[in-house]
Amino acid sequence: MGLRVAVFASGGGSNFQALVERARQYRVVLLVCNRPQAGVLDRAEKLDIPSHILSPRIFGSETSYVDAVLDLLHKENIDLIALAGYLSKVPSRIIGAFQGRILNIHPALLPRFGGKGFYGSRVHKAVLEAKETSSGATVHFVDEEYDTGPILLQKKVPVHADDTSDSLAARVLSVEHQLFPEAIHLIAQGRVRIQNRRVTIIPHTDDH
Ligand code: GRF
Repeated sequence: MGLRVAVFASGGGSNFQALVERARQYRVVLLVCNRPQAGVLDRAEKLDIPSHILSPRIFGSETSYVDAVLDLLHKENIDLIALAGYLSKVPSRIIGAFQGRILNIHPALLPRFGGKGFYGSRVHKAVLEAKETSSGATVHFVDEEYDTGPILLQKKVPVHADDTSDSLAARVLSVEHQLFPEAIHLIAQGRVRIQNRRVTIIPHTDDH
């Protein structure tokens, strides 16, 4: 029942786990991972979600890698792709096949502190260096560039005077774990429209 979601992840996978555990109107059907040593693979095994290690390096060419990913996504009737710490650019053929159906989570308030090179602790270090008093998390649709697609949801967190990049990352991460499932629930409820690259969220009614 509900949307069939594929999660793409490369790292520790705490967002992957949150997406699996908090799913109500969608189901995480599979994990695509591009790093054989990634911690997210252990989480997938424990949560009993099938994982697929796929990367251009494993396939020897970008073309056959993209063919394999698209075959898998179509075979599994995937409705939506959730990028949860996926440290590679999604090839444009996949973006084209899943127009408006790929979401990413970013650990800052986009459009600030986003773009190529802004990932992991680099984001939080940049926020601290800029002496920001707040940061947060953003869920956005994925387009051909890094972190520029239409924003679906954002949530702020305070930055404390004594924060390190680790303490800030932990505070942002706990918000991410709520925000990403919430964003997918909005889509599953049919409450999200994108027009001219702007997202509208249709208010909740009893019919939904
Ligand atoms: C998160 O901070 C997410 O915003 C970013 O990558 C990190 C992934 O963390 N895109 P995890 O692997 O889900 O724990």
